[in-house]
Amino acid sequence: MKVARTIKSVRQLVIAARGNGEKIGLVPTMGALHEGHRSLIMRSVKAGNFTVVSVFVNPTQFGPREDFNKYPRPIRDDLKICRDTGVNVVFVPTAKEIYSGGTVTWVEVEKMSKPMCGQFRPGHFRGVATVCAKLFNIVQPDVAYFGQKDAQQAAIIKRMVADLNFPLKIVVCPTVRAADGLALSSRNRYLSTQQRRDATCIYRSLAAAREMIKAGVKAPKTIAGRMRKILEKAGSLTGVDYISVVNPDTLEEMKHVEGKVLIAVAARIGSTRLIDNLIVDADRR
Ligand code: PAF
Repeated sequence: MKVARTIKSVRQLVIAARGNGEKIGLVPTMGALHEGHRSLIMRSVKAGNFTVVSVFVNPTQFGPREDFNKYPRPIRDDLKICRDTGVNVVFVPTAKEIYSGGTVTWVEVEKMSKPMCGQFRPGHFRGVATVCAKLFNIVQPDVAYFGQKDAQQAAIIKRMVADLNFPLKIVVCPTVRAADGLALSSRNRYLSTQQRRDATCIYRSLAAAREMIKAGVKAPKTIAGRMRKILEKAGSLTGVDYISVVNPDTLEEMKHVEGKVLIAVAARIGSTRLIDNLIVDADRR
């Protein structure tokens, strides 16, 4: 496994692999790797790709009052996970390497960046789309892997790739959950023991929504109302940013539940903001 710190060196390694007839798989991450990331990496490795994992805590996707400074950076553990899973190259650039000279060119995926997390994290998806566009241009992968847990991010990146004709395929992999349902996230490590227990309210609210849809409930308001009640029972809950019932591809709100529906939640447990979602097919009972 090679560790590349510059754009030039990662490009050289990728060009050499491509010369050997390899397909390139990219797993973009901000490090603090957990089982969710491992599942993305395994998917690329098992597909036989020359697998590049980027580890970059992207400053442009954090708001001024967000957790950029305290975001975990356990690079040694990350490198070990990459080595153990059979990664070929880990790309670990500095912010200077990625944003040298400042950036005046941004990628804005309109409309889809506005609802849900976009309302509470202005500029977040502009930062995500821009850094992913850069990583796609730097690494030039055949395929890139994202987690379903960040449903809005995955939908936005897919749309950006389609709209800007990036020659790569986006694969979205299932959310990996703890035994009690909590979606794995690098931010779970901010939770105290009690908060960690209470955080299961998020998955429980989603599972209740799925039950309701499977039982034929069609009104998003009824579904969201029930979910909110479940969330509000958790003692450590400090707020619900949103409960959304939307089209999984366009993120447009649904007036009436039908076909594939994305149910998404962002809730605050103590001072930690967690997100999760489920896609439910209302036409399949
Ligand atoms: O999902 C993440 O970890 C980040 O948003 C990503 C895709 C690596 C871009 O910085």
